[in-house]
Amino acid sequence: MKKVIVAPSILSADFNYLKRDILAVEKAGAEYLHFDVMDGHFVPNISFGIPVLKCISKSHKMVNDVHIMISDPLKYAADFMKAGANILTFHYEACKSEKEILDVIRIIHSFNGKAGISIKPNTDVKVLDGLLKELDLVLVMSVEPGFGGQSFISDALDKITYLRTVIDQNKYNCLVEVDGGINYETAKLCKRAGVDILVAGSYLFGHEDLEERIKGLKE
Ligand code: DX5
Ligand code: ZN
Repeated sequence: MKKVIVAPSILSADFNYLKRDILAVEKAGAEYLHFDVMDGHFVPNISFGIPVLKCISKSHKMVNDVHIMISDPLKYAADFMKAGANILTFHYEACKSEKEILDVIRIIHSFNGKAGISIKPNTDVKVLDGLLKELDLVLVMSVEPGFGGQSFISDALDKITYLRTVIDQNKYNCLVEVDGGINYETAKLCKRAGVDILVAGSYLFGHEDLEERIKGLKE
């Protein structure tokens, strides 16, 4: 089985010691740092935004994997790229048209970033069929976006398998990432389904055996 990438979500970090927690997951072998932006409008929670990203994006060597759960991504995409996003993933459901989606992708690419799109559990994965050739990443939500610590929704597995098949058949250059309720057991299911990147928050942060946990997700 191929090696997956682990992307710890700092939503579950201790914000009193954010730099300490970021360096701990980097030292433990994480390749991406998942940065969950919530606006209290697209999702019923508010997390953090551009000033925090500006501050932490240069304090580590991992890929800044920014997940914006916000309305109107077109308005803010450039600001997140300027603040240090390497991958910027916005929500399909936050866009009013395919043209808007393509405009956001174009902005991200104009900053030499990787463009990702995320779909919520109730969104049919086939809505992405015509976009996969433009995208660098698809983020399959395995929880309702808005909070860490929720349980894995197994419908995500069929979406991962579908994306893996279509991407491989068409030789698209598009990574498949899964996000929500990832632990040792659910990670195994997602890897078997063909995922490339695992986001994990509450399974990693706040645990003494962080290194073993990250190793376990990768094996
Ligand atoms: C939820 C976020 C996820 C979340 C993952 O809206 O997009 O990244 O922080 O947290 P866990 O791994 O605890 O489900
Ligand atoms: Zn996320």
